[in-house]
Amino acid sequence: MSKSFYSLVILAALSVACTGPKTLQDRLTANDRQIDEVISKMTLEEKVEMLHSKTNMSSAGVPRLGIADIHYADGPFGIREEGVPNGFQSAGWKLDSATYFPTGSALAATWSKDLAYLYGKGMGKEARLRGKDVILGPAVNIQRLPVGGRTYEYLSEDPILSAALSLGYTLGVQEEGTAVCIKHFAVNNQETNRGSVDAQVDERTLREIYLKPFEKAIVEGGAMSVMPAYNKVNGEYCSENEHLLNEILRGEWGFKGMTVSDWGGTHSTMGAMLHGLNVQMTGSNYLGQPVIDSIAKGVLTEEMVDEKVRQILRLRFAIEAVPEDVANTVMTSQPQSQDIALQVARKSIVLLKNEGGLLPLSKEVKKIAVIGQNAVLRTQSGGMGAGVKALYEVTPLEGIRRRAGKDVEVVYAPGYKNFPGRRWGPAPKEPKPLEAAAIDEEADPKLLAEAVEAARGADLVIFFGGTNKSIETEGSDRKDINLPTGQETVVQALHEANPNVVSVIISGGPCDLRVLEKHSPAIIQGWWNGTEGGTALAEVLFGDIAPSGKLPFTFPAKLEDSPAFAMGNFPDPNAGGDLFTLMYRQDRTRMSREQIAEMMAKMPKPVSKYTEGALVGYRWFDTKDIRPMYAFGHGLSYVEFDYGILKATAGKKGVKATFTLTNSGTREADEVAQLYVHRLDATVEWPSKELKAFQRVTLAAGETKTVTLEIPIEDLRFWNVEKNGWDLEHGRLELLLGSASDDIRQKAEVSI
Ligand code: GLC
Repeated sequence: MSKSFYSLVILAALSVACTGPKTLQDRLTANDRQIDEVISKMTLEEKVEMLHSKTNMSSAGVPRLGIADIHYADGPFGIREEGVPNGFQSAGWKLDSATYFPTGSALAATWSKDLAYLYGKGMGKEARLRGKDVILGPAVNIQRLPVGGRTYEYLSEDPILSAALSLGYTLGVQEEGTAVCIKHFAVNNQETNRGSVDAQVDERTLREIYLKPFEKAIVEGGAMSVMPAYNKVNGEYCSENEHLLNEILRGEWGFKGMTVSDWGGTHSTMGAMLHGLNVQMTGSNYLGQPVIDSIAKGVLTEEMVDEKVRQILRLRFAIEAVPEDVANTVMTSQPQSQDIALQVARKSIVLLKNEGGLLPLSKEVKKIAVIGQNAVLRTQSGGMGAGVKALYEVTPLEGIRRRAGKDVEVVYAPGYKNFPGRRWGPAPKEPKPLEAAAIDEEADPKLLAEAVEAARGADLVIFFGGTNKSIETEGSDRKDINLPTGQETVVQALHEANPNVVSVIISGGPCDLRVLEKHSPAIIQGWWNGTEGGTALAEVLFGDIAPSGKLPFTFPAKLEDSPAFAMGNFPDPNAGGDLFTLMYRQDRTRMSREQIAEMMAKMPKPVSKYTEGALVGYRWFDTKDIRPMYAFGHGLSYVEFDYGILKATAGKKGVKATFTLTNSGTREADEVAQLYVHRLDATVEWPSKELKAFQRVTLAAGETKTVTLEIPIEDLRFWNVEKNGWDLEHGRLELLLGSASDDIRQKAEVSI
């Protein structure tokens, strides 16, 4: 933030000393007096110019008064390359290659608030090098569907874990003088019909699950802008949802910043003006001339526009504009960000299974067969908005080869064809040699034979399976979580040729591992792990570091076991087309409002019923006693950890739990201790257990540390729909402490 802003913050802080503590949100009002002066000098036209896009990634300032435009950049895990002014096509710049940070699900697998904070600092720094004021991220929607197209972007199925990481990322970014635009507010948990689906969710579930990651970052983190989602919530589009944007966001949470619609996600002038939208991205067919016309007719007032401009200028005054002759003068990707990306990648890798001690690789292993195109495919670009033009990306094969050096021979075979996905265009006549025409195409016999040959001649096989960024992408959901293009056939054949198979899944979301698991003594979830992903993976494989990632969402044995599918809530049979998918956003802004209204009237009204309520992810599996393939919080290490007796006390402020944690192995390792709560005598309905606190702990070989986990009383409340407010039910709680949601080591009881 600018020095002048900080001095004003200090002034504001001093001035409020007598009026009680200020949240980070309140600090945004530090310049209101100056802002009102600016507004008083602005014409109505200048004010309305600020309420919509100027270019595809900017909204207007007030040049005449020295107020700079606001420049936005996608995120959330790499500052996106510069696009042309009126679209997303690359502008072909040379210095905008950025650091490709591990994607959301990988960051979530670190279970580290500190790493999320560092991650945000890296992102914030690189945004400023690119002259960007606002990062369009973090993307924090709850992982409701294993098939969700943006699972790779989002964080966790649990609100406490997602909220902690969302807060860390927000604090990190904004401390670097860049604003976050936390997205997509709210209940944006599917890509199918994302532009028109109505997410129907009860208020308690909305508050306790889906809003938590936003609330924490906005109230505690001071997030300066929010992106309403494309979808509807309980009948109203998010970009004009009175309950979400005015009653909750501004009314209850005290949000003082601005809201920026998703690109093509604004739906009306009156709705946007009356129900909480500040900036239409993109186009001005709603928050442009029609606003001026409506004021002339007395339907809207200039004061309404003034309030929106005030909220926009609060962000503008808080974020020092990067001078044009400073921005984009050095390469965006910087070594310190690359190092942060490596740190995150190291802590994100999840060891799912390790039988027979295959990992870490033994010194006896002198020849490794690396099989599978996912060992060489880069994962930086694609997946639509969140793609990154990375300065470099170390693939798993490159990482393994570098680490193996001359001591170990590494051979590679593609093993299977890659399905490049053809979501946005017709299938080419002939797929390229190593590309499949269909996602469920059988294994290619030639590639299979070559792979088996390589496996037979090696001491150990590392099979790389999983998906790619055309299969898991924004804009569409997967049909299933099956491993594509005959990978199961390949791994089975490899295992028959060589019993020493380590499988590494490179994907954003969960895959069905039932067959693969039978043919893999060791399994790693490797994620889309950023610019140094291959380096980190090799370090884990060769034992330089112990794996310490934990699953941030459940890996179901089969898709039908997961809640929305089991309840028949997804996919919606009335799917049909989708305004957004059918009409690329730019066309919509060129259509007249009458044409859009006519088209909308014909559109099917897709609905997504959230009748599973709070039973998202492990809450469902535990409550319904359904065994997943790998549980929420699961992740093995190369050592064992011993948990000492759990001592807990409860008071007005919450619960405090203390225990010793010992690394009983012979090497340094991290553990993520997890504390869940089970209600013993509740009258209110609760999931069987809920994560309420966690901590990543680094322990040297043989080291013991005393760990204290605290649960603030606020996190034990429920949303009482009768009172329409937060409430606390007194009673006995069983505390469950462990290494995973299905690996509880110690218990204790307290009463609140
Ligand atoms: C996209 C995404 C959003 C992104 C925006 C700009 O459609 O939903 O996450 O920030 O448009 O690319």
